[in-house]
Amino acid sequence: MKALVLSGGSGTRLRPLSHSLPKQLVPLANQPLLAHVLRGVRDIGITEVGMVVGAGAEQIRQALGDGSGYGVTITYLPQDAPRGLAHAVRVARQYLGDADFLLHLGDNLLPDGLGEPAVKFRRRRAGAHLLVQKVADPRPYGVVELDLAGRVVRLVEKPRHPRSDLALVGACFLTPVVHQAVEAIRPGPRGELELTDAVQWLVDQGVIVRASEYAGYWRDIADSGDVLAGNRHLLATVEPERGGVVDPFSVLGPRVRVEPGARVIRSRVDGPAIVGAGSVIDGSHLGPYTSVGRGCVIRDSELSGSVVMDEARISGVRRLVDSVVGRAATIERGDPRTGCRVVCGDHGRVEIPG
Ligand code: G1P
Repeated sequence: MKALVLSGGSGTRLRPLSHSLPKQLVPLANQPLLAHVLRGVRDIGITEVGMVVGAGAEQIRQALGDGSGYGVTITYLPQDAPRGLAHAVRVARQYLGDADFLLHLGDNLLPDGLGEPAVKFRRRRAGAHLLVQKVADPRPYGVVELDLAGRVVRLVEKPRHPRSDLALVGACFLTPVVHQAVEAIRPGPRGELELTDAVQWLVDQGVIVRASEYAGYWRDIADSGDVLAGNRHLLATVEPERGGVVDPFSVLGPRVRVEPGARVIRSRVDGPAIVGAGSVIDGSHLGPYTSVGRGCVIRDSELSGSVVMDEARISGVRRLVDSVVGRAATIERGDPRTGCRVVCGDHGRVEIPG
């Protein structure tokens, strides 16, 4: 079995970060989202990965290389524009050949892995095996209707009036029959070739499509709230590590990872938290659920629940909460008499206490 990881999407809901960073590389617990995806793929024994890439191709290649660092072999498959998940399957036609494959969206976090559904697929081997999860509001997702035997009878992409509460998770197992489906369908209302339409085509042809409810944690990393939530979830189980230097005036909580070359000086880090390699935390308080990337400087500041990316600098700032700080960004204390001065990127968002 092969895997097809889709990383061609543009990530408009994650702007401004996605203007310069493909959303599939957004760091969660200091590792790019795609690193978490590849771990899940490899853990079910798949080593051949087709990576469909678009505008962010170069950065993704730089981050993942040939995949050997993750125990897989990556073949990059360029997609000219984000024309839909089913279009990405068309792009990968030659690469996939006659193999069954796991289709995994590059923006979906599934840290509990795919072991159980992989066993179910291998045992029952339907034409397609989907994963679904009950959600309070299924409207932003593909919505799946099942019969009593767990067979899929209908799928609708982002329906206004959903007929079930089962959302389509961004990972599923497919067999070569799907290649006929992706050729047969036409673009849907948002102008894309939808996977949901391709799978519906299979159902309409009488192909057996099954679905199982996914019991693990699932998050579609679409906006900054998802980044913070996903990060929080991963940090909850972070293993403590003291790779760097912690001076005697600092206090560290039980779930704190200090990566090699980092320095924690006169600071308190409650954790769960990660201080990335080469970063300096000086005279500061890092509250729970904070990830600090590599090469950052945080001085005389207090922050919690946040993701701070590589090379960022934060100084003299009190109570920064639930924030996402991009690479090499600077946040510093200004003169209280002049008010707040910001240089905010296109589509950026700043909340200033009134
Ligand atoms: C895509 C699929 C949708 C699925 C979702 C899961 O949506 O089209 O069916 O439920 O991924 O993450 P998109 O991320 O393109 O909005």
